[in-house]
Amino acid sequence: MRQRTAVLISGRGSNLAALLAAARDPAFPAKIALVVCNQPGAPGLAVAVAAGVPALVVDHRAFDRDRAAHEAAIQAELERHRIAIVCLAGYMRVLTPFLVGCWAGRMLNIHPSLLPAFPGLDTHARALAVGVKLHGCTVHLVTEAVDDGTILAQAAVPVLPGDTADVLAARVLAQEHVIYPLALRRFAAPAERAVPPPASAALLNPLPGAIERP
Ligand code: GRF
Repeated sequence: MRQRTAVLISGRGSNLAALLAAARDPAFPAKIALVVCNQPGAPGLAVAVAAGVPALVVDHRAFDRDRAAHEAAIQAELERHRIAIVCLAGYMRVLTPFLVGCWAGRMLNIHPSLLPAFPGLDTHARALAVGVKLHGCTVHLVTEAVDDGTILAQAAVPVLPGDTADVLAARVLAQEHVIYPLALRRFAAPAERAVPPPASAALLNPLPGAIERP
């Protein structure tokens, strides 16, 4: 039984595309059953439509700063589509305790840094500014604290001389596209946590039981 998974996006949708590509395999334990976007016209919506996945816009501006009402509308759609797992993939709204609470232990996020370093925005520029030599990305469970929660997978990349934030972002993004499908696969089917990570992932959380811990 494939776990019905929703992906929440705000923009480009390249991680959504990576998840959709992985889930095309009938053996993948999650089915991308819904895409929800808060930005009308976001390029990621076309990615969902091209894949034949229901894609909904729940525009936060229609709710006149009422975050609770906006999240209630999203939650209603998640329930209507019988969703079991939610993946945030470039969803640029900070969630309130309501939606986080609805999905405690069942909501994943991808963040473009090696958490707990560089939570928040502009991670690549901040990494360059302080001179770290390793940077990367993290898939983690979502909790009320921003970019916090149990780490499910990480991939590291080197910071190279002459890197700009854009160059570094592209190097990290390539790894995001590797570890998000992997993390979802392991999360949706715990038996698959034993499957070795692909060679293209520079570094992955080696603790297969990590997601059981609070
Ligand atoms: C990614 O870098 C992700 O880590 C961050 O937002 C970006 C989304 O990119 N949370 P995309 O929309 O998946 O291409």
